[in-house]
Amino acid sequence: MQGIIFNALEEFVLENADMATWNAVIDKSQVASKGVYTSGVNYDDSEIVSLATQLCSELSIPLEDGLKLFGEFLFSFLMNNGPIELGQYDNAQTLLENLDSVVHRDVKRLHPDAYTPFFSYEPVDKETGKLTYFSRRKLCMVAEGLLKGAAKHYGQSVSLNHSKCMHQGADKCCWDIKFEQLNP
Ligand code: HEM
Repeated sequence: MQGIIFNALEEFVLENADMATWNAVIDKSQVASKGVYTSGVNYDDSEIVSLATQLCSELSIPLEDGLKLFGEFLFSFLMNNGPIELGQYDNAQTLLENLDSVVHRDVKRLHPDAYTPFFSYEPVDKETGKLTYFSRRKLCMVAEGLLKGAAKHYGQSVSLNHSKCMHQGADKCCWDIKFEQLNP
């Protein structure tokens, strides 16, 4: 997993808790990198899982809820600190249609050792569509948070029906999604 995601996690902890919590998470999860993460460098996937699990136990919140909250935070973090300019999209649907072919492809182009997830968005009409996700990391809860963060960024609401899940034995995660423009 790319260092920028760990930087985002640290920032998330500092905004929602404090430095003592982040230090406790690093100490207790005993990650190989000892909590020093550089943007652009790749770290073992297991570190993000250990840190997220430890963080949720420190904060006494279910892991699924923590991952969703982190995903929502991550979207604005990536928009502000990510390696890619994303000026050209008007709404979350257009961003989703270009997620693999433009956004994550650019991540891969800049960092060839990055492992980016697979997403495919099929619009049903202007507001609704079907999203498919696959990743060896099975971070569908982070994806849900990112979708929420994207909707917020574009002034939209989003409702998600997670109809298939890799954690329930499906080969991919699928959602029926509805985005609505708020105050159009
Ligand atoms: C709705 C929008 C987005 C969704 C649903 C999404 C989804 C995801 C997910 C689920 C991951 C976790 C890795 C995995 O599942 O294997 C991820 C990783 C990542 N995403 Fe996105 N993403 C979105 C937007 C963006 C944007 C706007 C940027 C950059 C400007 C970005 C850059 C990255 C990077 C750098 C990683 C780390 C890849 C790695 O560690 O190898 N994403 N994304």
